[in-house]
Amino acid sequence: MRDDLSGVALVTGAARGIGRACAVALAESGFSLVLVDIGADTPEVPYPLGSESQLEYTRDLCLESGANTEIVLGDVRSAADVDAAIEVAIQRFGRLDAVVNCAGIVRPSGRSVDLVSEDDWATMLDINLTGPFRVLSAAARVMKRQGSGSIVNIASTAGLVGYRNFAGYVASKHGLVGLTKAAALDLAPHGVRVNAVCPGSVHDDPELESIMLGEVAAALELAGDHEQTFVRDQPSNALVRAQDVAETVVWLASERSRSVVGSVVTVDGGFTSR
Ligand SMILES: NC(=O)c1ccc[n+]([C@@H]2O[C@H](COP(=O)([O-])OP(=O)(O)OC[C@H]3O[C@@H](n4cnc5c(N)ncnc54)[C@H](O)[C@@H]3O)[C@@H](O)[C@H]2O)c1
Repeated sequence: MRDDLSGVALVTGAARGIGRACAVALAESGFSLVLVDIGADTPEVPYPLGSESQLEYTRDLCLESGANTEIVLGDVRSAADVDAAIEVAIQRFGRLDAVVNCAGIVRPSGRSVDLVSEDDWATMLDINLTGPFRVLSAAARVMKRQGSGSIVNIASTAGLVGYRNFAGYVASKHGLVGLTKAAALDLAPHGVRVNAVCPGSVHDDPELESIMLGEVAAALELAGDHEQTFVRDQPSNALVRAQDVAETVVWLASERSRSVVGSVVTVDGGFTSR
């Protein structure tokens, strides 16, 4: 990893939302980028996922910032797709300095744990926990050879505390926090750092085409202005901005955070400090 932030970063879930915010912030900071997203809906997930055109739009925003940018359609449930995305970084840019594991889903959710089907559980774990594991382990093989690299896992406050009717999501994000700490210990001797960011409730920003907080509200069958409902739980009286998550990600991706290893950084407006 270079001090001037001129490295190569791979971001999953980059079509929209927090992944788009991270991609743009990394581009503005000087990184070259490989942007990965499933880019299509899948029957196991009951809401629209990021599209190919949204991924292309994120690429265009990064190109406008002067960043060399490649896009890859890929599903983090497929080891072959993940390997192909890492290969794009190596073939196009010759190295891989940072990985942001941002692809994730929040539904199927909205049921008490005793009513969660094994299929829904498996989908949640496959995308939110095994997906980041696939990306992390494939990236680690490259980074160990380089002797450097930074992997940032986007977990959630649901990786630190429980939420009613979100057992699969909460378990997947607690698992991701655990994976972060264990992988950090394995990889630190090789110059590779692993950290996690735990965002709280993030504002659905139209510029980022974000919809996840709305999907949480749908799972909870919240009526009315759901953002106001979430704001009431925030000590800061404000939702988190995806751009603020992205700032933390850029710091963790860069050498400026060189001594930060296995850390779990909350960006939650004080939610988990109560
Ligand atoms: N929005 C929030 O309030 C919030 C809070 C805490 C944590 N998070 C986490 O942040 C991450 C991003 O959330 P967001 O709000 O930007 O959501 P989002 O739904 O807007 O974006 C997620 C992206 O991941 C992609 N994706 C989903 N499944 C995939 C798969 N199998 N393979 C590849 N790509 C896939 C989607 O297409 C989408 O573009 C998620 O991991 C989420 O759990 C979000």
